[in-house]
Amino acid sequence: MSSSIGLTPDLVRYLAHVNPQEHPALARCRIETARMPNAQMQISAEQGAFMQVIARMLNAKRAFEVGVFTGYSATAVALTMKELNPIGAKLLACDVSEEWTIKARDYWREAQVDDAIELVIAPAAETLDARITAGEAGQYDLGFIDADKKGYDAYYERGLQLLRQGGVMLFDNVLWSGRVADPADTSPDTSALRALAQKAKADARVHAAMTSIGDGVLICVKR
Ligand SMILES: C[S@@+](CC[C@H](N)C(=O)[O-])C[C@H]1O[C@@H](n2cnc3c(N)ncnc32)[C@H](O)[C@@H]1O
Repeated sequence: MSSSIGLTPDLVRYLAHVNPQEHPALARCRIETARMPNAQMQISAEQGAFMQVIARMLNAKRAFEVGVFTGYSATAVALTMKELNPIGAKLLACDVSEEWTIKARDYWREAQVDDAIELVIAPAAETLDARITAGEAGQYDLGFIDADKKGYDAYYERGLQLLRQGGVMLFDNVLWSGRVADPADTSPDTSALRALAQKAKADARVHAAMTSIGDGVLICVKR
């Protein structure tokens, strides 16, 4: 099972015990994805619970996600958005893979959030650009970025335009299994994650904090 960095199996079980019960569609998504070769790409159950709390704090009605995979994070966030806003909740889900997202659609139907999720299969920067051009800047409450790390800066800039003031963007994997703290690792992905962290820290447009939830989640609130 995917879990937060550094947690023992006992602590993962404890978190599952004290956090809200997973929706059956989320549990099925997690169990079935665990059998896939890329299972480690899925966010952990406790990260899903955390993201649902963020969505509720924002009373999120519109959100975007970059990186869907088999749909765990989108299902979790859409469930809360639809509970809060049964009419009009909309999650723009961006991915390049038909193969993985076809599985996501199945969980969305089971969770009855399929009508609240618009999946666009295309490079996410193009999809976000199209939404900005379409006049949707400033209209989103929440964004979740969980895809190609070298694209994070492009998603940061586009996401900031799409967010409303007070909106929140979450970046996944910012601790990169610890590799960001290893000076010997100068790979493009690791360097991109370090650069994003420094940029957000110095950026007057956001109030940012890095947490160790999951594989590290950078929280950016648009000022
Ligand atoms: C780590 S997985 C996402 C995990 C997902 N958030 C979850 O909860 O299970 C990364 C996803 O990003 C997608 N991806 C990679 N490059 C992309 C790009 N340029 N645009 C959109 N999606 C991309 C991959 O196809 C993959 O499904």
